[in-house]
Amino acid sequence: MKAVRFTRYGGPEVLDLVDVEAPHAGPGQVRVAVRAAGVNALEWRIRAGHMQHLRPLALPAGIGGDAAGIVDEVGEGVVDVRIGDAVFGSGEETYAEHAVLTSWTAKPDKVSFEEAAGCPTPFETALRLLDDEGVGGGHTILLNGAAGGVGTVAVQFAVDRGATVIGVAGPANQDYVASLGAVPVTYGPGLVERVRDLAPGGVDFAFDLAGSGVLPELVELTGGAERVVSIADVGAADLGVRFSMGFHREKVPALREGARLAEAGRMTLPVTRTFPLAEAGAAQAASATGHVRGRIVVTVP
Ligand SMILES: NC(=O)c1ccc[n+]([C@@H]2O[C@H](COP(=O)([O-])OP(=O)(O)OC[C@H]3O[C@@H](n4cnc5c(N)ncnc54)[C@H](OP(=O)(O)O)[C@@H]3O)[C@@H](O)[C@H]2O)c1
Repeated sequence: MKAVRFTRYGGPEVLDLVDVEAPHAGPGQVRVAVRAAGVNALEWRIRAGHMQHLRPLALPAGIGGDAAGIVDEVGEGVVDVRIGDAVFGSGEETYAEHAVLTSWTAKPDKVSFEEAAGCPTPFETALRLLDDEGVGGGHTILLNGAAGGVGTVAVQFAVDRGATVIGVAGPANQDYVASLGAVPVTYGPGLVERVRDLAPGGVDFAFDLAGSGVLPELVELTGGAERVVSIADVGAADLGVRFSMGFHREKVPALREGARLAEAGRMTLPVTRTFPLAEAGAAQAASATGHVRGRIVVTVP
């Protein structure tokens, strides 16, 4: 099969499309014929070698954590899917014609393979953040980075719970963030004052999804570092702010909850750019700009 591989850390050019042996589903896993793979910001950092200290790789390695496709092999002990089912989920080395998934759920009929491929990591991350803080009806929350993959779905999960959401994004994404159900606000100097005007009753929790250096402002707005969580600012602990990571978290409940809302027409993660598998490097370069609206995916013909 064709798969994207890299033999050394570096820029987008180190990604090559090569012929490799297809992987096989182990116990509790499924293999899919990949139709599309989501492009997460983490992946260009892994390729560039920025994550070596946390996740050392044996090179050559594949890349990609999310996919949607058709099940074509079912591992021992798996009883909830059959060969031929359309699923989306997370696994390993998903920028490939076939990939093994370790977490999955049925793809809603009304969601395309491309859109479903973008959803697994954003669904798990967004629900983890909201659940860990107990966000619910009556809360006002701020999402810094509301227009990206995690932000787009976090707005919709939070609105679905009855929370009021203030979504921080660039000028070009104000209408987009509003369309998701949030009150939009621009980033840049004066953020605290702008948010106070929009939320005179205060902000209960703030989530930093952009790592843009505004944690002191978020602490000021919420009144305490314990009410702020970051998934993107490695200096968070210095300010007493928790950094949330998803290692070893169960992903299936989030996939199911996201799929349920998507089926009901209350969840969308628009795919704003697609790239063929052979152009995975360009897809990651677009992701690395830090200004993706919705999600980028790579597609398999
Ligand atoms: N720790 C974890 O568990 C975990 C899990 C998933 C992702 N992450 C990390 O979390 C981050 C977000 O992931 P993602 O997939 O949502 O990324 P993404 O899809 O690439 O989105 C990035 C978003 O950040 C926004 N942004 C850029 N500069 C900003 C600023 N100064 N203030 C506010 N927003 C700004 C952009 O909006 P504009 O275009 O409007 O500027 C863009 O929509 C990435 O760094 C990713 O690696 C961590």
